[in-house]
Amino acid sequence: MVPPIVMTIPEIRAVTDAVRQQGQTIGFVPTMGALHEGHASLIRAARAASDYVVVSIFVNPTQFGPHEDYAKYPRTLEADQLVCAQAGADVIFAPRVEDMYPANSFSYVEVAKLGDHLCGRSRPGHFRGVCTVVMKLFNIIRPDVAYFGAKDYQQARIITQMVRDLNVPVRIAIEPTVREADGLALSSRNRYLSPAERAVAPRIQQALQTIAQRVAAGEVDTARLESALEAELMAIPGTRVDYAKIVDAEFLQPLTRIDRPAVIAVAVFLGTTRLIDNLLIGEPVGR
Ligand code: PAJ
Repeated sequence: MVPPIVMTIPEIRAVTDAVRQQGQTIGFVPTMGALHEGHASLIRAARAASDYVVVSIFVNPTQFGPHEDYAKYPRTLEADQLVCAQAGADVIFAPRVEDMYPANSFSYVEVAKLGDHLCGRSRPGHFRGVCTVVMKLFNIIRPDVAYFGAKDYQQARIITQMVRDLNVPVRIAIEPTVREADGLALSSRNRYLSPAERAVAPRIQQALQTIAQRVAAGEVDTARLESALEAELMAIPGTRVDYAKIVDAEFLQPLTRIDRPAVIAVAVFLGTTRLIDNLLIGEPVGR
């Protein structure tokens, strides 16, 4: 079945209210569209665990900075509908910007501390936009479980923290990063890469692996590891390193030594395309 596209808030509320009244559980996958196998894996996880699966597709303007790619972000609703159908979604919620952000909206959600570093530092206001739209979507859809990808590790941690701090009645499930055969993490932004950039892009993941091997071999000094990581990334032709950091896996704060679960997290420009990736060292925390 091809899932119908619902565009208004009253209509999707009517749908999810009816599902809930029948005693069925709702799994929810928030996305910005341009769906790929990474998104599909989240939808399949929701399908396996819930009676009813909602996918939202909304390119959220409040999480893009003034010089970022909001206007040119890929919008591929018809193809997205097919991905949703194949992965087993029941309905797509694709609201209009003016319905999600009516004039005179003044409230927002911000999780302190966890956004201080990594993407939060290089994209001011980004996570405030993410948290605000995700909270709104949670309040509109009222899912039992919501699915996020480990590829956006900081985002997944911040949403988990928001739900815990604000007693939002939803369980957050974090699913593994889906990669191309050569290791490149799937991303809607990969389509911006030129063939030459695409050819070297897997070296981002390889750099993370190299550093993880050094940790496995006993190196715990993060300053040394970070400079080795930066050197690996700078050796990729056409790159500019936005950040290359090792932070604690729970609160995403800088570490001087790896003495607890940690995340190696990078953001790299390949030409004008910004790609992120990460690698967890140690057990998952804070879920
Ligand atoms: P978007 O970039 O479309 O991603 C939607 C979800 O898919 C996120 O949870 C993201 O982590 C996950 N995802 C993306 N690539 C993945 C991959 N290769 N493997 C596994 N999961 C992957 O993230 C957003 O949208 C937005 O910030 C959103 C949460 C929808 C709020 O606007």
